[in-house]
Amino acid sequence: MKTPLIAGNWKMNGGVEANDALVRAVLGGLQASGGAEVAVCVPAPYLAQVQTLTAGTPLALGAQDVSAHDKGAYTGEVSAAMLREFGVRYAIVGHSERRQYHGESDALVAEKARAALAAGITPIVCVGETLAEREAGRTEEVVKRQLAAVIHLNGHCISEIVVAYEPVWAIGTGQTATPEQAQAVHAVLRAQLLAATAQAARVKILYGGSMNAANAAELLARPDIDGGLIGGASLKPADFLTIVGAARAD
Ligand code: 13P
Repeated sequence: MKTPLIAGNWKMNGGVEANDALVRAVLGGLQASGGAEVAVCVPAPYLAQVQTLTAGTPLALGAQDVSAHDKGAYTGEVSAAMLREFGVRYAIVGHSERRQYHGESDALVAEKARAALAAGITPIVCVGETLAEREAGRTEEVVKRQLAAVIHLNGHCISEIVVAYEPVWAIGTGQTATPEQAQAVHAVLRAQLLAATAQAARVKILYGGSMNAANAAELLARPDIDGGLIGGASLKPADFLTIVGAARAD
């Protein structure tokens, strides 16, 4: 059985004082950690702070984005090698907020996944359909297209990635995909990965989109839901720890 992964995505939230309190509270509740792997993906300026706070603990450090380039004249970007120097283990790539507000294409997301993998960082590749796409019956086509770009470029090491299915209409809206809806898409993604490599059975496919303390257990009980990518609830230590506990119990 795969070890579930619960990753918090703080998005553009936090501050030195607040991060300290949040990480300490999460660590306090993780003491009895068994079962689930747990990570927090923090804004880049706080990587050093959270690296110090989490050193030697079971809480892994993640970034929210990574440059597709190794180095050079790319103002504002952060390379995978730089992230690695701060102990980063995971990097979210292709979050729908980056696709939407920063025009990230499927091809760029695939390049970012490649850059992360080359530096020994596990990319958490986000895919997901908008409400209009779901209503038009295009969910499967959209998520498969998004994942296909990453598989195409990273074929030989695709079993090293983590996938996150995040329906855009469920992000930050309080409207969660039902466990049946999520499982159905996860099964499609699993089949697509398996068609690329038999090793893909071990790829973790996380669900993200208004996952919270109340609905996590039901979602995580589904066979192809291997964890969660948690936004809002990752800023509330008690809620985040409840989700971690639900993953453990699975
Ligand atoms: P929420 O949990 O706030 O809906 O955000 C999900 C998300 O986008 C995680 O990456």
